Amino acid sequence: FVGALLIAAKVARGVSRKRKQDEIMEEYRKGLAVPLEQALQVRDGMITQMEIGLRETGSKQGLLMLPSYIDILPTGAERGDFFAIDLGGTNLRVAYVKLGSEKGSTESSSIREWLIPEECYDTDNGRLLDWVAERTIEFAQEHGRLKRDSPPPTIGFCFSFAVDQTAMDNGKLLLWTKIPVILNDTVSTLIARRYSEPDTALGIILGTGTNCAYLERIDRIPKPPSDYRGRSSEMIINSEWGDFKGACLPALPEDLWVDCSSVNPGHGGFEKMISGLYMGEVSRRLVLRLAEHGLLFGSEVPPGLTVHDPLASPLVAAIVGDGSPNLALTASSLASAFGITKSSLDQRRKVKEVCLLVTRRGARLCAAGIAAVLKHTGRGCGGADQPAKRTVIAVDGSVFKKFAKFRELLRAALEEFCGADAAQVELKLQEDGSVFGGAYIAAAASSWTSRASS
Ligand code: GLC
Repeated sequence: FVGALLIAAKVARGVSRKRKQDEIMEEYRKGLAVPLEQALQVRDGMITQMEIGLRETGSKQGLLMLPSYIDILPTGAERGDFFAIDLGGTNLRVAYVKLGSEKGSTESSSIREWLIPEECYDTDNGRLLDWVAERTIEFAQEHGRLKRDSPPPTIGFCFSFAVDQTAMDNGKLLLWTKIPVILNDTVSTLIARRYSEPDTALGIILGTGTNCAYLERIDRIPKPPSDYRGRSSEMIINSEWGDFKGACLPALPEDLWVDCSSVNPGHGGFEKMISGLYMGEVSRRLVLRLAEHGLLFGSEVPPGLTVHDPLASPLVAAIVGDGSPNLALTASSLASAFGITKSSLDQRRKVKEVCLLVTRRGARLCAAGIAAVLKHTGRGCGGADQPAKRTVIAVDGSVFKKFAKFRELLRAALEEFCGADAAQVELKLQEDGSVFGGAYIAAAASSWTSRASS
């Protein structure tokens, strides 16, 4: 009798554990789904925050919407050779572009990359900029472009951080007047595509972080300084959309944890649901909740699962894309990220589902952001009374480049949110756009200057 009771108790525990697991999984599925109605709220909320940001500087209710002062764009007819510097969080890249004789063509290009040495991290002592200058000189010499009697090369400078610019060659973070253009990586990506595709109107980074730049009508930007003299009717705006916030965002308790343990708590709410730096960490936290309830890996929580940030986005991509019958890639990812060397197929299935839910949420939110920019600029996705215009969106960044499922889900969501208008939208990978755009805009700027002075 006692034996029967013990068995019954064990069965009951198993049933209630299964019920609790289903309950949590259901919460994840619902909480991360971003159904159409919610996506449209995100789209419209983002348009509101874009409009506030365009009107007011520093408003907490709006996006930053930083004017780039880039109001001339490459036409494809520029000639000559140009350099670009791209200073990111961990790497420096310097690129060389020789423009071709046919419209929109590039004869040759090359790129070199260095890891920023640790002693340069302290930006206050000036070491960083000296080091950047040394590497650039080295690279320009390799291309025979630093000769005593020839004019110095023209350089575009891409700086992948929010810079409050006051002119095309001037920003709050840097003042480096020998450089004709300072630009954000999204701005640079847009420009790099625009050189060969005149329908390019948006530049997006989907990598460690996420952000979007787009072409805005100058009469809708009330905030540039009074001494600004426009050279055309449009200017590129760096939206800093990663900072979009609002109750419409589909947040689970785990998102709050991720935010609190990030370097910028309270900021970048949208970015933390989309970009490569955070997708793995959100997934880990969701898996951890299941494990802490004893619902995934037995009564013990695997110690590796409690460590902050070991699930890098390439591993999330591997898990989500794992098509093998026994989920072998998921097994090896669990081993390398968390030290979980033994896992059952059912456990792997659960982990894969969690990662897929997080990926789908990211892709759907990104699509809602794109729909917002398209609708705001009158390019489509705004209903029947707004005819869509063909729009090329240049996208750079590791998530877009290397994460096939993310790309697929992003495209599907765009079609769902924009209906037939999505057929007018092309998302194109602009590899190394963030560095090469600097060279193309340097070309456009110098050709504009020589036209203006002749
Ligand atoms: C972060 C930066 C933004 C940059 C983006 C992509 O969101 O604030 O300026 O464009 O990352 O690199």
